[in-house]
Amino acid sequence: MQRVEKEIARLIQEIDYDEVTELFGSLSGGKRLRAKLILKIAPEHKDAPLLAAIVELIHGASLLHDDVIDDAMTRRGVTSVNASSGSKTAVMLGDILYSKAFTELVAFDKDVAQTIAASVTALSKGEMMDVKMAEKFNSDESLYLDMLYLKTATLIEAAAKASALLVGKDAEKHALYGRNLGLSFQIIDDILDITATEEALGKPAMNDFVEGKCTLPYIYLYEELNVDDKNHLVSLHTKETSKEETLWIQENMQEHKTIEKSFKLAQKLSNEAQTAMSEDSELVAILETMIKRTF
Ligand code: FPP
Ligand code: MG
Repeated sequence: MQRVEKEIARLIQEIDYDEVTELFGSLSGGKRLRAKLILKIAPEHKDAPLLAAIVELIHGASLLHDDVIDDAMTRRGVTSVNASSGSKTAVMLGDILYSKAFTELVAFDKDVAQTIAASVTALSKGEMMDVKMAEKFNSDESLYLDMLYLKTATLIEAAAKASALLVGKDAEKHALYGRNLGLSFQIIDDILDITATEEALGKPAMNDFVEGKCTLPYIYLYEELNVDDKNHLVSLHTKETSKEETLWIQENMQEHKTIEKSFKLAQKLSNEAQTAMSEDSELVAILETMIKRTF
């Protein structure tokens, strides 16, 4: 991973603007899941660290913009750029990282470049769907999963597929692995929003529903409730809930086992990815760590 960090630092230096170097230095790097995946799939390829750096810059840019869209005050345990330096700066920093990444991407083979580029259109589409869907309570599981695929899984899928293409491995098998890893990763994220503490998450807990996001545990809860309780749940959507209301949600989720049900879907998707990649113990290990994570 040091090779990736070095590449990222080099690309930031090449932007040649102290303001950007400083702002970028204030960001927390995060889990670097996408970069790790690329290095694991194409460890021997000389351009794998560069591809990993490109994907991390794109991911970083998307989070800068996402925090503006979500009005988020923290990101990965530190103050978000929109909170510390304003939304305009966050948008412009995102634009610079994103376009620098694409400048580097065009030097790759067309199939690799197209795979990554197409996924960025998809993730932007997914973000728009997410925002639109948050306007009212959504109880449609398949619509929710379609959005998750676009918003989160597509860049992970593209990272796995593009690195497989780099080294001539089975691109479709790796794409399926990445897609399911991405989906189960996001479902675990949705679960942790409800079960983990603010300290562990590096952002406020139980915040998805306040932001309007009806994640799987909420969708499954809605399915289980009687009409009155359904209406009560819908009335809490996008509200800064009181302690009692938060407790009501948590107790009902416990009673109707909606966290377990969500976790089972994450596990099913992860198992499918594991089956597709059973001969690669390192990729299987990434899945296992991801599903067991607590933040
Ligand atoms: C986080 O979702 C958001 C994403 C994974 C994608 C955001 C995509 C865009 C803003 C499109 C623009 C793209 C570029 C490259 C500039 P979340 O809000 O559910 O997760 P969070 O809790 O981590 O914020
Ligand atoms: Mg967000």
